[in-house]
Amino acid sequence: MFESLLSRRSVLSSFAIAGTCAVLCLAAAASAKPAAAPAAAAKPATGEPILIGHYGSLTGKEATFGQSTSNGIKLAIKEFNAKGGLNGRPIALKEYDTKGEAKEATLAVTRLVKSDKVVAVLGEVASTLSLAGGPVCQEAGIPMITPSSTNPRVTAIGDMVFRVCFIDPFQGLAGAKFARENLKAKTAAILVDQAQAYAVGLGDEFKKNFAKFGGTIAAETTYTGGASDFTAQLTTIRAAKPDVIYIPGYYTDVGNIALQARKAGINVPLLGGDGWDSEQLAKIGKDAIEGCFYTNHYAPDQPDARVRTFIAAYGKEFGGSVPDGLGALGYDAANILFDAMKRSKSLAGKDLRDAIAATKNFPAVTGEITINAQRDAVKSAVVVEMAGDPPSPKYVATVKPE
Ligand code: PHE
Repeated sequence: MFESLLSRRSVLSSFAIAGTCAVLCLAAAASAKPAAAPAAAAKPATGEPILIGHYGSLTGKEATFGQSTSNGIKLAIKEFNAKGGLNGRPIALKEYDTKGEAKEATLAVTRLVKSDKVVAVLGEVASTLSLAGGPVCQEAGIPMITPSSTNPRVTAIGDMVFRVCFIDPFQGLAGAKFARENLKAKTAAILVDQAQAYAVGLGDEFKKNFAKFGGTIAAETTYTGGASDFTAQLTTIRAAKPDVIYIPGYYTDVGNIALQARKAGINVPLLGGDGWDSEQLAKIGKDAIEGCFYTNHYAPDQPDARVRTFIAAYGKEFGGSVPDGLGALGYDAANILFDAMKRSKSLAGKDLRDAIAATKNFPAVTGEITINAQRDAVKSAVVVEMAGDPPSPKYVATVKPE
């Protein structure tokens, strides 16, 4: 299952520049006109634009999720338009900020499908927000592709809702297997954000699988995203003396938890899921997050050719910044949509839906994507370690689906 366990720390010092300001990057992206820079020898699209939508947390506690996704989508659009778009028609983007709130997500998707009349919707990142926006797309018959919501319930909304990432039963298994086999953890504590469908679901999957692999859950505690004091939970966890602490939350809370855990004298590795993936994790958690691990969709230091090409293009477009997993998944989701548009009989919701459903072996940055009968993608996960000074994610292992 683990393809490689090389710790590649030494090779990676050149990626320590990951901390470029995401807000600045977004501003740069927003001012970039679509199709402004046609590639040499390609005929840029000039026909009537095709409007697609994106809803994401461009501000708020999970702001880098939406910002990175937006960057990835904009890069994909720019490249697609420079190559001629869809038979000469360029893609245009309408984007709304969910601020990380469910009611804003519902409102944003309603605007996209009812007022803006987009042909397809990309988003959200957070599962809870995709669960809020998805039913609007389903009802309106407009396809939605979430780049990164991993909770199984998201695509179960209906036949209009797709994702290009793996799901949490697999991610939880990957984390549990890594904890047992690689960290040699016999006991684990779990600290779950009870306000997020993602965290609750992933916590359950980790728990189930850690026990299945022979481990013992020593303590289970919860918090509500946005909390600032984790003393009570950390006191319980410290008393249980776990070998590892699994925290399937989002980066702002995880950074704060790491700081407080170290202050409380807890020095075991923290382990988490893709929700950790933000340059802000190390900005908040500093060296408290060093030596901690999380499962993710991609690592910026993976040697794969597609990853290298994407990172170069993204860096060129966004002031040298290194894309996180959401930048990669936003890019992949947009490209999957464009590929489906090319194969689709028309841009009507149902035709486009059928074309997305027929996606097979698409060579994406985050791995080859085939959409299965549940409208999910079955893909490998990577494990990264927060290493270096300041800590940044370094590729440790690839976990393949069984
Ligand atoms: N998988 C998370 C969710 O479902 C979102 C996420 C994906 C966050 C990738 C960071 C990176 O809520």
